[in-house]
Amino acid sequence: MARPVLLVKSGGEAALPEWQRHFAEAGAAVEVRWWDDPAVDPASVRYVLVWDPEPGRLCRLPELRVIFGSGAGVDFITRDPDLPRHIPLVRMATPGAAQRMGEYVTWAVLSLVKNARRMAIAQAAAAWDYFELEPTAPATTVGIMGLGHMGATAARMLRALGFRVIGWSRTRKEIEGVRSFAGEAERDAFLAAAQVLVCLLPATPETRGILSKPLFDRLRDGTALVNVGRGSQQKLDDIIAALDARKLSAAVLDVFEQEPLPDGHPAWSHPRLTVTPHVASLPPRRERAAHVAQLIAMHERGEALPNTYDHARGY
Ligand code: NAP
Ligand code: GLV
Repeated sequence: MARPVLLVKSGGEAALPEWQRHFAEAGAAVEVRWWDDPAVDPASVRYVLVWDPEPGRLCRLPELRVIFGSGAGVDFITRDPDLPRHIPLVRMATPGAAQRMGEYVTWAVLSLVKNARRMAIAQAAAAWDYFELEPTAPATTVGIMGLGHMGATAARMLRALGFRVIGWSRTRKEIEGVRSFAGEAERDAFLAAAQVLVCLLPATPETRGILSKPLFDRLRDGTALVNVGRGSQQKLDDIIAALDARKLSAAVLDVFEQEPLPDGHPAWSHPRLTVTPHVASLPPRRERAAHVAQLIAMHERGEALPNTYDHARGY
């Protein structure tokens, strides 16, 4: 009997052989084909693994059972107005994804506390720019917006380094050593306490443009910012204005409304802004294929899948 088809749209068509190899190594009982392969009968497709599928395509796969997002955020899938909402949409939540994000956030926070951008600029100019490094981790409060799969892991890693860690989420959390603030009512108290603010929120209508002047006005002067959520959550002009006004001391941004960040954008050269190219957490294809293969096996056994997108909540 023909095996069910898994269509892949992630990493470009050149990545297909690699996906096929990793799914075979993981023992997945599927035939892995490219998204635009004209020889694939749409009725044979049971699974898809996608990033940014063209709107209107998923609803034309009559036997589709599960949509696997190839990233943790699935906003590039849910923006399809014809998305078949009755089909489970699974977010990529490998343990390695949270580990990588925790490492990136830890690096970003340390680089802000240690003023790494200033040192890199000085080195590029061969300048001995001596300055004293203050403060230490135990004297620094890191506030994490979003304490989900990624945010909770980052919080634990920062705690282990001695940072004071607080978090803000929709619902209250119990994470050892982390003070939890919940909902709109506690947002301003959270913001006022943070010295480094990290955004790990999903892209939803509520979080769109959240990192902008009205929120910055609630922060202490000189708060540092890390955004690893989505570019749609930040107003880049407001961030640059807040940096210039010293409301924000410095920032590390991994995500942008327009990616790649356009040539000549002032963000590229701002002396207190570090730009990284949306690399905070991208598990290798082998890890993602093994994870999806495991979930396909669970689905075939009739088990419920973890980390599914909740259409009512929007993440
Ligand atoms: P998650 O497990 O769904 O966690 C989301 C967190 O945000 C939850 O704690 C949730 O609160 C909170 N939240 C959502 N809406 C909120 C609101 N309006 N007010 C307050 N808190 C709110 O997601 P995740 O796996 O940690 O990933 C988070 C995001 O990181 C993704 O959606 C993606 O955009 C981004 N990401 C970026 C990269 C990168 O490479 N830059 C990689 C992976 C992910 P509750 O817990 O109370 O529900
Ligand atoms: C990357 O941005 C992801 O959502 O996994």
